[in-house]
Amino acid sequence: MPPETTPKASLKITPDYTLRPATAGDLDQLCLLEDASFSGDRLSRRRFRHWLKTDNRVFLVAEADGELLGYTLVLLRRGTRLARLYSLAVGPAGRGRGIGKALLSAAEDASSRSGRLYMRLEVAESNTAAIALYRQLGYRTFGSYSNYYEDASNALRMQKRIRYRPENLHTLNVPWYGQRTEFTCGPAAAMMAMAGLDAAYEPNGSDELALWREATTIFMTSGHGGCHPIGLALALQKRSFDCEIYLNQQGPLFVSGVRSEEKKRVIEEVDEDFRERARDAGIPVIAEEFTQQQCQQWLEQGALVLLLISTYRLDGKKVPHWVTLTGMDDECFYVHDPDVDDEDNPLDSQYLPIAREDFARMSLFGKERLRTAVVIRKPG
Ligand SMILES: CC(C)(COP(=O)(O)OP(=O)(O)OC[C@H]1O[C@@H](n2cnc3c(N)ncnc32)[C@H](O)[C@@H]1OP(=O)(O)O)[C@@H](O)C(=O)NCCC(=O)NCCS
Repeated sequence: MPPETTPKASLKITPDYTLRPATAGDLDQLCLLEDASFSGDRLSRRRFRHWLKTDNRVFLVAEADGELLGYTLVLLRRGTRLARLYSLAVGPAGRGRGIGKALLSAAEDASSRSGRLYMRLEVAESNTAAIALYRQLGYRTFGSYSNYYEDASNALRMQKRIRYRPENLHTLNVPWYGQRTEFTCGPAAAMMAMAGLDAAYEPNGSDELALWREATTIFMTSGHGGCHPIGLALALQKRSFDCEIYLNQQGPLFVSGVRSEEKKRVIEEVDEDFRERARDAGIPVIAEEFTQQQCQQWLEQGALVLLLISTYRLDGKKVPHWVTLTGMDDECFYVHDPDVDDEDNPLDSQYLPIAREDFARMSLFGKERLRTAVVIRKPG
């Protein structure tokens, strides 16, 4: 509840409390806050003492006149990109003044600075105040646990992306475009690259289909064919961009999952045709593996890169998927993913972070371990 009378002066930006890291001297007051805030599943004095001593966490308190009004504890599990909101509490006296929101926002910032990409949490299904706070800050539900708490109530699992752009590499500003069909990730990724390289180019549905028609392999394991790296490069060259292709496979692509002999033959013919046309057009097809360092150099040179990834690690499906590389830093590749994972949060598909160690595996497709990239430049 807001205070009974709210003088205008209290609307000033400076809050009447401060946030600071928790210290060993806070132990007594933390225990009191915990008692006043939760009816069960409380953190014991011993656990508080433990978390005050360790360093793989963010532990903040809100304080006014020496009195603790609230605290938050976020665990930073080693070896993962996740931060976990372990506890958040504002004592009854401090509620409704934005303290919960301020504590969680500050904990998100600190977690993001420690390289975490997502914040996750569990909250009791019946805890409407906390759920409203999390939703307001952009958390969304991605699962639930039944019988999670001491009183056997269920928990919702919520998460939020807390880091969006690479911080130590300035790359081109690439507009995001969501693919309109299941099979046009390649064209959508290519259009994003063209728009990033040439501000006058606007991605559109008609070019999306035109690009697909120019670059498709015609068949895929099921459904329409995806786009071939050489097909995409030819289509981009036609639109006045310079391309080079890294392709670690000599034979036809995407053929192993296709059972029908007739479909295989068509895919092989398309593959041969693309290779011949690339030779005629002078598009380099480099039969080598590319390195992470090369990707970084391409971005630094002002090029953009289309990467083929396997979505297995994103959604459990072993589908080849084109994305546009939009940034890199010491820890991550950042990609614009044309697939909208969540219609309400298209931002989650922009600068989607893929940890460098995961990228090595994600950028390999299928049994043949196909790895391919199309480097695109605006002619000088
Ligand atoms: C949940 C809790 C941390 C909120 O702290 P708070 O400082 O009062 O929250 P804020 O003032 O920052 O409110 C932020 C938003 O949360 C939501 N919210 C907070 N209290 C609410 C309530 N009683 N009912 C509905 N929504 C509420 C609102 O969306 C609010 O935004 P608004 O002020 O723009 O309407 C606090 O109520 C608490 O400690 N509860 C007991 C412990 C607990 O449940 N912790 C969470 C465990 S997962």
